[in-house]
Amino acid sequence: AEDGYDLWLRYRPLEKAVIARDVPYASAIMAQGASPTILAAREELQRGLSGLLGKRVPLATALKSGTILIGTPKDLAIAKLALPLEKAGAEGYVIKTVGRTTVIAGNSDVGALHGAFAYLRLVQTRGMLNSLDIVSAPKIGLRMLNHWDNVDRTLERGYSGISIFNWWELPGHLDPQYKDYARANASLGLNGTVLTNPSGVSAATSLETAWIKKAAALAGVMRPYGIKVYLSVRFSAPMEVGGLKTADPLDPQVRQWWKDKADEIYTLIPDFGGFLVKANSEGQPGPQDYGRSHADGANMMAEALAPHHGIVLWRAFVYSPSPEDRVKQSYNEFKPLDGKFLPNVIVQSKNGPLDFQPREPFSPVFGGLPNTSTGMEFQITKEYLGFEIHLVYLAPLWQEVLRSDTFAKGEGSTVARVVDGSLFQRPLSSIAGASNIGTARNWSGSIFDQANWYAFGRLAWDPDLDSKTIAEEWLKQTFTADPKFVEPVTEMMLGSRETAVDYMTPLGLAHQMATSHHYGPGPWVDDAGRPDWNPVYYARADENGIGVDRTATGANAVSQYAAPVAKAFSDPKATPENLLLWFHHLPWSYAMPSGGNLWESLVHHYAHGVNKVAEMQTRWQAMKPFVDAERFQITADFLAMQKENAELWRDGSIAYFQSVSHLPLPDGVPAPA
Ligand code: GCU
Repeated sequence: AEDGYDLWLRYRPLEKAVIARDVPYASAIMAQGASPTILAAREELQRGLSGLLGKRVPLATALKSGTILIGTPKDLAIAKLALPLEKAGAEGYVIKTVGRTTVIAGNSDVGALHGAFAYLRLVQTRGMLNSLDIVSAPKIGLRMLNHWDNVDRTLERGYSGISIFNWWELPGHLDPQYKDYARANASLGLNGTVLTNPSGVSAATSLETAWIKKAAALAGVMRPYGIKVYLSVRFSAPMEVGGLKTADPLDPQVRQWWKDKADEIYTLIPDFGGFLVKANSEGQPGPQDYGRSHADGANMMAEALAPHHGIVLWRAFVYSPSPEDRVKQSYNEFKPLDGKFLPNVIVQSKNGPLDFQPREPFSPVFGGLPNTSTGMEFQITKEYLGFEIHLVYLAPLWQEVLRSDTFAKGEGSTVARVVDGSLFQRPLSSIAGASNIGTARNWSGSIFDQANWYAFGRLAWDPDLDSKTIAEEWLKQTFTADPKFVEPVTEMMLGSRETAVDYMTPLGLAHQMATSHHYGPGPWVDDAGRPDWNPVYYARADENGIGVDRTATGANAVSQYAAPVAKAFSDPKATPENLLLWFHHLPWSYAMPSGGNLWESLVHHYAHGVNKVAEMQTRWQAMKPFVDAERFQITADFLAMQKENAELWRDGSIAYFQSVSHLPLPDGVPAPA
């Protein structure tokens, strides 16, 4: 049965005609070198090609016509080919047809491994393979998953079972799934994984010696695949784990504790990546508990890790109940600290200033900290986008953010150029995705959520890739290359995020979800426990209008952006319509540039979102001939649930807003049930 376990590495037999035409030089595999990484690359090529060609592809010990040659220039046969390896960097690759040989080479073994996966991707996506001439290098240095996995194996915001990391059985037993996890991530070129949740006690427990040994066992599985392990750490760990009386970052004993801890970790995991920290946010302990700054805290850890070349990823997701607009708090806290962080610190910000909403403007932290390495944090797990149930392809969201222009150094200062380090010439660059992986047979809960893991990895390698290209690649590898399937389903995926925005939070609304579980609508909620958690605070709807004034006459969040951006966001006419209510409080009668008034437009967006889900259902039904029964059915079932949920979002939201606007429903919109 096709249960989705194989992800996009399915390697099912290609059509005979395609093999004859497109896979000419793959009759045997010759791997140069014997490192675990080269052996992994050889194994993957053999597994992949044998599956795709429908016959066992042998290993070769001598070069003959039609062979695939893989390795690094340490091998003379590769060195003398004069491949353009200077453009491949430390982790990239060259794939080149030389005579009747396909050469896959990297400057490092891991580069060659990435090349092997790229070659298999080409074969699976029916690329032309007889005159290859490809050079590729990742644009971002650290490309990692952030697991929000607790040490008891529950997942924070996970919708796909429990943690695949079986801490009880580690380090004694290594589940074979760990290797498949490493293969999947390496196939995308990811090179890091944070194993534990930055929120809560897991970030302390995982620093206990017994747990470091468990992490070391996992590191052993990841290492051949070029993936380093990191741990989330709790700021108060010196007290919880070390028994100290304080965690004050300026206390010498505390500083020593972190140094000793780092030394211990590196004894067990020589290539350990570093720490991810959530401090002074949502009740987590942090340096401010001692009157110290985020820089004091981060630098203390950075000093402990520096001798081992470890990195501190310090999260910029900080806010607390305060009269200040929540969306301004992250920038307010970090802007004064710009330039104060040690070189091995990365400040990791969520893409938007609030919290992974269906749509937010980019966070002003990007572009606002020219003297700080600023890392991107996306959320792959769909906490605010319908969990594993709703079909929402996230690449368009991420692409929208990455292509946003911060204007920090004039036009063209995109978020992608901040994140890849090139805009401010930063020594470090990073991108992280909060993982959607769990013990579900299909890893992600739904088949289409595998596409989000895939897309995150592809964008991490190249933030300039197009979401359409990524969707097509994924579909061809995951289902079939038949254009009668790929074209309509690509279109469906590309529209799916906007559809969710329409039925959840159109026109720049945000934080309209039900409290705590965050699934389903709650625009009317005004008792979520804290004012800054109340949906009503984020829509501010009354009989006169709706939206939050974040211009100079209001919260003035616009002032955190570079002048050209601030100017545009200050003027409702110049603000993109899809962010209108994020920045402006407007009367219901406001004339929309796209036609109609604000009230009518809002209602139409909700209705449109539901109609689009119905269209997705119809479209998927037509795909039945192309998809195996099991994966067809789970997707069809989830779309039916999504349709019901979308109706609930539409009806609940319209009913609430109508109860304050007292306006009649525009024509063509059904009355809330
Ligand atoms: C959101 C989410 C939390 C998570 C937090 C974070 O607020 O609901 O569960 O801990 O983000 O990113 O730390």
